[in-house]
Amino acid sequence: MVDISDYNELVKAVLAISVLLTIFKFIFEKYKTIPKKAEKQPRRKSYGSSPDDPIPKPTPLYITPEQVKTRDDRPWRPFRWPYHQTMSICKLNINHWLDMDKYYYDYIKEKERVLHSYGPDNFDSLPGSEEACLELMETVKEHMLLRYPLLFTSKDNGVHVKNELTGEVLDFSLPLKENPLVYVSKMAKEDFYIVLQGEDGVHRLVAAAVPFPGGSFGIKYKLGKTLDVIHTEVPYYKEKLKPSMEKWFAKMQPADLVERASWYISWDHKLLLNNVYALKEGDKVETDIQPTQFNVRVERQTLRRLPKSRAIIFTNHPVFYSIEEMKDEPLVPSLIRKIIYEAPEGICKYKNFESFRDHILPYLNELVDRQIDLGLITAETPVKTLSTYPFALFIKESDDTKGWSNPKYPGNYSGEFKKEIETADVLEKETYARTAKMGDIIFAA
Ligand code: HEM
Repeated sequence: MVDISDYNELVKAVLAISVLLTIFKFIFEKYKTIPKKAEKQPRRKSYGSSPDDPIPKPTPLYITPEQVKTRDDRPWRPFRWPYHQTMSICKLNINHWLDMDKYYYDYIKEKERVLHSYGPDNFDSLPGSEEACLELMETVKEHMLLRYPLLFTSKDNGVHVKNELTGEVLDFSLPLKENPLVYVSKMAKEDFYIVLQGEDGVHRLVAAAVPFPGGSFGIKYKLGKTLDVIHTEVPYYKEKLKPSMEKWFAKMQPADLVERASWYISWDHKLLLNNVYALKEGDKVETDIQPTQFNVRVERQTLRRLPKSRAIIFTNHPVFYSIEEMKDEPLVPSLIRKIIYEAPEGICKYKNFESFRDHILPYLNELVDRQIDLGLITAETPVKTLSTYPFALFIKESDDTKGWSNPKYPGNYSGEFKKEIETADVLEKETYARTAKMGDIIFAA
């Protein structure tokens, strides 16, 4: 006789075992689909593509001339702490090689003025650079047509290109009517440096369309010089930069595009010559300049190699951010304050921080205290490079199509810029005369 309670126990046990088996089977099946630990892949180098790797092409961005009028470029905040002199290069997305923002028109017009007033002081090329200059011109044209199809248009496959922002039609038919550097300067708001490696293996600046050097150096004195000579005045170049730059240039291929940013501070928005570099050595900022007038000038730079001529193209694009517009970005005032007082001495001198730092210190102190009061930082928050370096925290809040207007303090210095340019002439001429006598930089380091 079967005891009914034993029978029930048996059924329960069988059921429990089958449930357990189902669970094991499920886990086993699932485990089978998890890939085994990947075999060790060789680490992808951040640079050093092969010479045959394709050069990436830009993707079209369908912004209109009207949209450009209010568009802001990626918001640069290249403040580093600790601040060591390093290459600080990042991979460049080709779409950002030549950027577009609301200052485009002003910058192109200012290029025309500088070309007209100073010509070969800022735009010049040496014999032997012709092929590279033409290749650069073609590369810039192709980039603009592909990346900004509504801003640069052509009905005859690029023989004539209309710049829809300035209204000018550029005639590329041969023989060219002007130097290729002029064409380049009518399309892009960037400054261009063309560098070729000589038979002796040394890199030299062979052509330059540099209307916006800012004033710390005169570009005409750099032409024909090696990268070492060009960087003579740059603090810690020999010890910190030269070895890594040489390694980089030895390996750099056309598919390796990088960008970096330098910065300094001035109390104006001029592109050719900023007030901070127009000061005579040892002079200080005038006491009646309001601290709220101070701006960070970011020198946004890119590097790429052209495939045919093998020329290295170095671009520089200045853009100003007022300290005032960055005042609610956690740590930005603290970083600026720290850097202008505690950066390595050579850097403080090169950027002429001494000429204004005591003048803006009370203002920066106020901004730091304000951030503490608002709870953006605490007195103990360590002052260090932003997590979104080299960009502002709000880089995450926008994209290519919308642009990156500052959500809290959208600014536009176009009006001030135009007024400053109107009165720039006298100061420029005086300073240029002084530069010519000194043979090179304006502010002697
Ligand atoms: C990876 C490559 C490069 C790095 C890391 C680099 C770095 C620097 C740095 C740190 C400065 C000082 C600016 C500052 O700190 O605000 C500087 C200045 C300068 N760089 Fe470069 N640079 C590079 C490539 C080039 C190239 C290819 C050229 C083209 C000729 C160039 C031209 C200049 C000029 C004209 C200055 C101003 C020099 C002066 O004040 O007398 N740089 N560079």
